[in-house]
Amino acid sequence: MPHSTLILVLNGPNLNLLGTRETDIYGTHSLADIEASVRQRAADAGLAVEFHQSNSEAQLVDWVQGARDRAAGLIVNAGAYTHTSVALLDALRAVDLPIVEVHLSNIFRREEFRHHSYVSQAATGMISGFGPQSYDLAVDALSSLIKNA
Ligand code: DQA
Repeated sequence: MPHSTLILVLNGPNLNLLGTRETDIYGTHSLADIEASVRQRAADAGLAVEFHQSNSEAQLVDWVQGARDRAAGLIVNAGAYTHTSVALLDALRAVDLPIVEVHLSNIFRREEFRHHSYVSQAATGMISGFGPQSYDLAVDALSSLIKNA
């Protein structure tokens, strides 16, 4: 197990609206509900959590850069930047840590423009399509990646 037990959970644009936004796709849980569940699951695994959301690509890049030499791993739901952001990909590639990409929806069942993910090119793996539970599964995956590192 690495020295740090800190994991960063980064959420991109419009995820602050969860619970009220396109509820047929994303469900009725708020991001605060998801955060509470992630914190509980991580605590059970002996991990500390920093949980962030921003609509700004630059802020997300800054958080990823800040994870270097400090965190044990990252969980990333980059929202729409998943499909557009080379800047975020470059930042994730610069971080030598396990990265679990997360999506609430199954992006491969949706519009074609969502089928491509820049984040995937830097991620250890992806969990997509299990609603809020995707985050819990991501904590489990990241926890075992960290423990086996
Ligand atoms: C999302 C999927 C993205 O395509 C979309 O832009 C989002 C949310 C998800 O969690 O399912 O904002 O990342």
